[in-house]
Amino acid sequence: MISTETTLAGYHFDNCFMNAAGVYCYDAAELNQVQASMAGTFVTKSATVMPRSGNPEPRYQPTRLGSINSMGLPNEGLPYYLDYVSQQQKAVPDKTYFQSITGFNIEEDEQLLAQISASDFKGVVELNLSCPNVPGKPQTGYDFEMVERILTRVFTVYHGPLGVKLPPYFDIVHFDQMAAILNQFPLAFVNSVNSIGNGLKIDVATERVVIKTKHGFGGIGGDYIKPTALANVHAFYQRLNPAIQIIGTGGIKSGQDAFEHILCGASMVQVGTALQKEGPIIFERLTRELQTIMAQKGYTKLSDFRGKLQYLD
Ligand code: SIN
Repeated sequence: MISTETTLAGYHFDNCFMNAAGVYCYDAAELNQVQASMAGTFVTKSATVMPRSGNPEPRYQPTRLGSINSMGLPNEGLPYYLDYVSQQQKAVPDKTYFQSITGFNIEEDEQLLAQISASDFKGVVELNLSCPNVPGKPQTGYDFEMVERILTRVFTVYHGPLGVKLPPYFDIVHFDQMAAILNQFPLAFVNSVNSIGNGLKIDVATERVVIKTKHGFGGIGGDYIKPTALANVHAFYQRLNPAIQIIGTGGIKSGQDAFEHILCGASMVQVGTALQKEGPIIFERLTRELQTIMAQKGYTKLSDFRGKLQYLD
């Protein structure tokens, strides 16, 4: 029997695959589809203090090697998702779900966490520190002092399982510096990576950009970002306290991609661009492909190979 089950934040999940925040998680209709699929759980769209309609369209374009998006955090507002999760937990009490949140400052993060604490939410919180698409708002994850300030506040006011979604880093010194900050806190997990921010996709026929906001600049996902995602997953796996687990996100469109993320240290894997393209049926194929690779290698569970990436020296 080959199992892709996993444990994160002390919770058991039948399957390590789930959606990435932003894809198939805007409302109940989308979340129901992930819920009905082979995914081990779901994460909601990042909820803000007030509901948001997001950036004007066009704001998502598939490309030959992945996608570009500038969604601008459209979401129904935190109470909507807390109600939805609460209903799911009543219907299937032994399942655990992820609530993504993002405030535009520390006070808003605190407000969102206070709402979660006051609700009957029993799952895992993913604090998004990495959206590249809100005009005028920098990606928090690139402001190291701010990350430290936010986490100091967050863990003063919130005591449930909570992890952070980070932007990709590109420098060894930045991996060292960010890991040193993260290691000060009782984080349940780190999710690496969000899209590579502020890329450009150009339509040569019209000589125009394909995304409306910010003159076409948007977050890049898909094949382009897998090597960067793997590097971030492994860099944090090497540096973080073992109690801080890793969720691997970026460029997963096959069982082999998931295998590579897990080999780099991921305990769960999230799917964005490929899920958007194929729909939640993709989780069947991904699971089957991962199990086939595990069978070929004689592995029966993820811990047989998780984090066991080999080096050349
Ligand atoms: C968006 O809503 O713009 C994407 C979300 C994200 O990258 O965090």
